[in-house]
Amino acid sequence: MINAMSLNITLRQLVTFDSLARHRNFTRVADQMGLTQPAVSMQMKQLENQLGVALTEQTGKRIDLTEEGEETLTCARAILQNLDDLEIALDERKGVRTGRLLISVVTTVNTFAPKLLRTFQQEYPGVNIVLDVANRKRLLHLLSENEVDMVIMGKPPKGQDLKAEAILENPLVIVAHPDHPLAKKKRISLSAFENETFIMREPGSGTRSVMERFFEEKKQTYVSGLEVSGAEALKQCVQSGLGLGLMSRDAVMMELEAGHVIELDVAGLPIQRHWYLVHRKGKRLSPPARAFKEFVLGEAETLVQGG
Ligand code: PGA
Repeated sequence: MINAMSLNITLRQLVTFDSLARHRNFTRVADQMGLTQPAVSMQMKQLENQLGVALTEQTGKRIDLTEEGEETLTCARAILQNLDDLEIALDERKGVRTGRLLISVVTTVNTFAPKLLRTFQQEYPGVNIVLDVANRKRLLHLLSENEVDMVIMGKPPKGQDLKAEAILENPLVIVAHPDHPLAKKKRISLSAFENETFIMREPGSGTRSVMERFFEEKKQTYVSGLEVSGAEALKQCVQSGLGLGLMSRDAVMMELEAGHVIELDVAGLPIQRHWYLVHRKGKRLSPPARAFKEFVLGEAETLVQGG
């Protein structure tokens, strides 16, 4: 039987084990924790020695948890969660003015997120904001793993225990190089895109799924061209005349204003969507996270549209 008093396990070992259970890959754990791979193996070995059981088993490259590993993981996560709660409770005592805020936004929102954060930061200079920019798939993963306070993204899927509140409109449009043959046409019908090449976002992008769903529903084909990661790269390709792009107008606003790209006048567009502020249902929000939520729900529209 394990005697808690004689156990000599460290929080770092529990964090390492939690990370290994998530990534199932020693190199990735080492990268994430800023350790060498042998150091990660050592932490795991020491934890197993202390508990007197094997926590993982490796078949080729595949790492699985043993039954004892699963049980230890549940306990390790409860301990780490308790410590997170303690940090929040202590932050409550200190008030909203300090603490950390972990925010992730989809690449498309990246154009207006800094504006929101700048104003929030001016109001709460003591809050340490960590901003991560990724695609929709990655954000949903961060939410499910409870690795982020809040995210800004397109409408999240149902049935994932998420609380999502619409904050802004998000019209999606087709953009082109100003010299494109369709540039000056009015009320372009979708059939005109039959032989047009579109620059595609990477799989896992919300923009890409909306685009595919849209053309499928309209039973309209198009040519898939180059595939790029992130809204910024998509924009650059359209600007270089490599093809058309279907994307959030927000993401391309500056290029539209500067005349580097133009929005095509297409019948049935824009596709009307919204941006959402999303966090896990029932998540205990830290004081800075609560303040940020209140701030975004109250101010987003004015701030973003006010320039
Ligand atoms: P993404 O974002 O295309 O950068 O994933 C859009 C969304 O969340 O719908």
